[in-house]
Amino acid sequence: QTSVQTSASHDRPLVVAHRGASAYAPENTFAAIDKAADMGFRWVENDVQRTKDGELVIMHDDTLKRTTNVEQLFPDRAPWKVADFTAAEIARLDAGSWFSPKYAGQRVPTLKQYMNRVSHNHQKLVFEFKKPELYPGIEKQGLAVLRKTGWLDRHHVKSKLVIQSFSADSVKTVHKLRPDIKTGFLGTPAVADLPEYAKFSDQINSPHGSITREYVAAIHALKGPHRKHLEIFTWTVNDAAAAQRVAGFGVDGIITNTPDVVREAISD
Ligand code: G3P
Ligand code: CA
Repeated sequence: QTSVQTSASHDRPLVVAHRGASAYAPENTFAAIDKAADMGFRWVENDVQRTKDGELVIMHDDTLKRTTNVEQLFPDRAPWKVADFTAAEIARLDAGSWFSPKYAGQRVPTLKQYMNRVSHNHQKLVFEFKKPELYPGIEKQGLAVLRKTGWLDRHHVKSKLVIQSFSADSVKTVHKLRPDIKTGFLGTPAVADLPEYAKFSDQINSPHGSITREYVAAIHALKGPHRKHLEIFTWTVNDAAAAQRVAGFGVDGIITNTPDVVREAISD
């Protein structure tokens, strides 16, 4: 762990469509991942939360207000928390019109529906347990859905899936339940603390404004739980200058709402 080596840094970073191609289609919907696929992007990112009756759904905020018409359909149910609505109620929501009338009728996918769509599109996934502290046991439940949809088959685990969270406890839980899955911790731990994270996390995925060339090198100098060099996927990089900056640092992945802009910026 002394020599500074990079893992994928000699290659171009992977480009990951954040919540799907979310600059061009409503985030975390089929439309957003289909759009990423149409644009030629294999890697997408999502956010997973739990309904009142225990269904896992794809949603970033812990309320439904910003990205659906919940306020219109259920005016008396403020603050419209995901955890206060049943799956059947959420299935009625329009998750596209807020973005553009062109996307009216997009739904909030269940995790199962979403995984099947990612499979159908031959895509790969950076899967995020969002606010897992609100949903005890969500890791075990999420892994069960992944298993049933074929996402814990060897080939998928090896090359198509990363599970990440801002919660170190959640990442540890995933690593403990399924040590074969590649994991990511969201944040920018102090360099001195990185070895602790490297015990359960294969990636340290930091906001792009928080990283330096030296920080990326410090990550690459360590090995993760699978004895491979630790990686960094940085987010959310939506302009060419930032993409070139982090690519120059040798990051392994760039998570972006505008994958086309990033691809163009980092191409030779
Ligand atoms: O994948 C990284 C990024 O998604 C983390 O932030 O708030 O967009 O989920 P957020
Ligand atoms: Ca996310």
